[in-house]
Amino acid sequence: MYDFAPTPGQPKQALYKDLVEAAQTITRGEGDAVANMANCAALMAGFLPDLNWAGFYRMIGGELVLGPFSGRPACIRIALGQGVCGAAAATGETQLVPDVHAFPGHIACDAASRSELVVPVRRNGAVIAVIDLDSPLLARFDAEDAAGIEALAKAIANRI
Ligand code: SME
Repeated sequence: MYDFAPTPGQPKQALYKDLVEAAQTITRGEGDAVANMANCAALMAGFLPDLNWAGFYRMIGGELVLGPFSGRPACIRIALGQGVCGAAAATGETQLVPDVHAFPGHIACDAASRSELVVPVRRNGAVIAVIDLDSPLLARFDAEDAAGIEALAKAIANRI
């Protein structure tokens, strides 16, 4: 049994350090990408407060395809450049969106989502997936969240 859990009240930096360590531990020595993404989605949902969706879209055949996640059922395919995920995949840049209603082309998979963070996962320079976090709170994500998820993306890039 795994028993990864955040320490109550810990500052964000420490929270993300623990999340990344948990992700490294749980994916170590496991070559199955789906299993690793599924466990990482569960870890993000368990460690990070105020989320309504946490998971992966994978770059397959030039578009994003839904991967393992925690949350409500979501749109399956997203074209490059479409929505927040497609923007992250097309530009290779983290997308920090304080108000999804103000983001042109935002794709509403869950009407409850108000803010979103999408981080590209790169391997050998190419975007192979994105990590997507949604929150029902406005401006839920800040630069520390972006840096924390970027560290996670780097840590697991060779394991998904
Ligand atoms: N909102 C995303 C779509 C994915 S769902 O949030 C899970 C977007 O605009 O790309």
